[in-house]
Amino acid sequence: MARSKPSPLDGLLDSPRVREAAQALVRVVAEEARERSLTPKAYARAVRQLERLRGRPLIYPALIGNTGRGARVVLADGTTKLDFIGGIGVYGLGHGDPDLLETAVVAAAGDTVFQGHLMPGPEYLRLSRSLLRHAGPRFKHAWLSVSGAMANENALKLIFQKHSPADRVIVFERGFAGRTLALAELTDKPAFREGLPLRGNVLQIPFYDPGDSDSTAHSLAALDAHLTRYPGRVAAMLFELVQGEGGIQTAPREFFAALMQRCREVGIAVWVDEVQTFARTGELFGFQSFDLADSVDVVTVGKLLQGSAVIFTRPYNPRPGLIAGTYAGSTVGMAVGARLIERLESEGYLGPDGRTAVLGRRVERRFDSLRKRLPRAVGPRSGIGAMHAFVAFDGSAPVAGAVVRAAFEEGLLVFTAGVNPTKVRLLLPLNTTDEELEAGFAMLEKSLRLVSSEREIPC
Ligand SMILES: Cc1ncc(COP(=O)(O)O)c(C=O)c1O
Repeated sequence: MARSKPSPLDGLLDSPRVREAAQALVRVVAEEARERSLTPKAYARAVRQLERLRGRPLIYPALIGNTGRGARVVLADGTTKLDFIGGIGVYGLGHGDPDLLETAVVAAAGDTVFQGHLMPGPEYLRLSRSLLRHAGPRFKHAWLSVSGAMANENALKLIFQKHSPADRVIVFERGFAGRTLALAELTDKPAFREGLPLRGNVLQIPFYDPGDSDSTAHSLAALDAHLTRYPGRVAAMLFELVQGEGGIQTAPREFFAALMQRCREVGIAVWVDEVQTFARTGELFGFQSFDLADSVDVVTVGKLLQGSAVIFTRPYNPRPGLIAGTYAGSTVGMAVGARLIERLESEGYLGPDGRTAVLGRRVERRFDSLRKRLPRAVGPRSGIGAMHAFVAFDGSAPVAGAVVRAAFEEGLLVFTAGVNPTKVRLLLPLNTTDEELEAGFAMLEKSLRLVSSEREIPC
């Protein structure tokens, strides 16, 4: 059968000529970058300058270079670290993935650096198509944007417009939705809205408490109380199925299902924020891992996608003008995002026995054995797939911070999440190998022992 003429909508990497040129460029850039690492002094100077310019210190002095591979990131001074946090969940397949870099350079050599909603390109179409195909038949539309916060702003606006004049949103305690003026109020972190004018239209209910056998009933009662107090004024409830910034807290399906069912009964929008969970729970969308697809009206994604989007059912399609903006995303971000989704599907990352779910089980086993060796340093662990956190020692913020800094010195990048307790969080590359896991956990163990001896707290 004659091969049909290639379409501009299919991407150019399927052309051997283009693929070879992309490979050559990626190779030369890595070779050149390897010759350019900074001396320790120059590195320290660059970090100090960066901190001065942005007006506050980095959490740890990690200025990344160009030659990392997999979970290993190479810093600009040539030192290698294991990256189990990925810029807070952004580097889904780790560092220096050849195919993603080749996808990126081909997209970068195209017509535009960024794409807007007025003149979208093929990458825009490919990404929208791919997101909607995976989200399932309920979802009819996707609107692209750059950051998780922008996707959430768009979600909030299209929900309010559909449910006008309802002007309130129900959220979970400890949730995080972003840092715009509106989202800072949905986010349960008082420090993140210090000095900001508040509208006071956000209502909180408790998140699942594993220590309370009536947790679902308590949260339902809190939801009902708000609905009774503000009849006709609640537009939506926001769900974060695994609370990322809140400490990788999750709940059984029944908890979310009961609350979503009540939202549907009273006709308020079910909005799921998947900015941090996207592709990390074992399926592309967390609502698929929890088998809740039939209950969701609006979903937002970001981070690992290399851009962001709000995805919604037909009734939520807003009237023209409500959501727009110049930029939909960078051409590179869209091309890489679409390619990532393609690969997660074709390389077996999705599903209950997919690579991400298997990684999750491996991480659990590693934590179990670490806990046996250091029972007082490794407290409760939570998480799923490629997102995990644990309570280190007493779970206080200074101790969690000390573990994160000690891990950095040992060669491992992790970060904190949550308050009371503040946990140590891991957002691993989905393709983390066993060797990388073993090396990372050995570093984590060393860091915990170090903190234990420095602070004279038993481990
Ligand atoms: C659940 C959730 N929603 C929204 C955001 C905001 O995304 P961004 O930082 O890209 O604006 C984040 C970021 O951490 C998040 O975890």
